[in-house]
Amino acid sequence: MSLPLLVDCDTGIDDAIALSYLAARGDVEIRGIVSTAGNVEVAAVHRNNLLLAQLLGIAAPISCGAEAPLAQELMTADDTHGPQGLGHAALPAPRRRADPRSGAQLWVDIAREHPGEVVGLVLGPHTNLALALEIEPELPGLLKRLHIMGGAIHHRGNTGPTSEWNVAVDPEAAQRVLAAFSAAPTRPVLGALEATETVRFTQSTLERFEALAAGTGHPVAAILADALRWYFEFHQADGLGWIAHVHDPLVAAHAVTGDFASTRPLAVDVELAGTLTRGQTVGDELGRWGRPPNVDLLTEVRADAFVEHLLGVLERGLST
Ligand code: BDR
Ligand code: CA
Repeated sequence: MSLPLLVDCDTGIDDAIALSYLAARGDVEIRGIVSTAGNVEVAAVHRNNLLLAQLLGIAAPISCGAEAPLAQELMTADDTHGPQGLGHAALPAPRRRADPRSGAQLWVDIAREHPGEVVGLVLGPHTNLALALEIEPELPGLLKRLHIMGGAIHHRGNTGPTSEWNVAVDPEAAQRVLAAFSAAPTRPVLGALEATETVRFTQSTLERFEALAAGTGHPVAAILADALRWYFEFHQADGLGWIAHVHDPLVAAHAVTGDFASTRPLAVDVELAGTLTRGQTVGDELGRWGRPPNVDLLTEVRADAFVEHLLGVLERGLST
């Protein structure tokens, strides 16, 4: 049985690894990809998604999302992900054609076509999912589950001092999505920075990607190795050493396998008004708000086992 997935991402180096991982698995059926503005502008995200889908043999519709967040100007992270979003990788123009629908409409159409079946996976800002909720307020009940990479609950931010990138790019969208999915039959699973930053690629991980590129000649393996080198350089320039925190693949792998981390319920909301803390995800550990938990937060990550699993799937899947 394959798991039907709708992936919304701002590709992005770690998004590209997550998409490659999902395509390399034999038991996932990607039903749609939504390109969301974030790491780079939406046109570049969309080109990256079209190219990766073409090279990975993903046949699903790929829709371009909104150009800007709901209520603030778009910020991009060219320093983190490179001017095109995939670091040092050379990127030929994709031959794959885009789906003409908006990103928001693709969310709605895919959820309505297969009510209760599709798992949503958000690896970028929440803009297009928030817009989809305007078209179809019943969307939370039409999905099987929602998995999100975003937020930093008990952890410093990676964008502002207390804010994580995917939430900081569009805080209003993240807040609306969390509010709407509070009524979902199944709580969304949130992979925040305290979980995803336990995943730490080192030089030996980079060498496995380089060996994969050299050994298979697969064009995506070469793109990932060249992209990752940039990600290491960024982390080093940011004072974190010669490593890379690779966020999105852990959340993707947990969405598919339920493995590599535990979860615990928590009430979480997004700070919209803070003068220093806008975009912070606040977790109510002591129940002061009197609200029921609205997310299952990833915790107790088995990071080494996950990295080995990720490499194994890519090595098997990109060799064929
Ligand atoms: C998130 O922000 C982006 O830069 C990454 O792709 C990931 O989704 C981590 O904060
Ligand atoms: Ca991302």
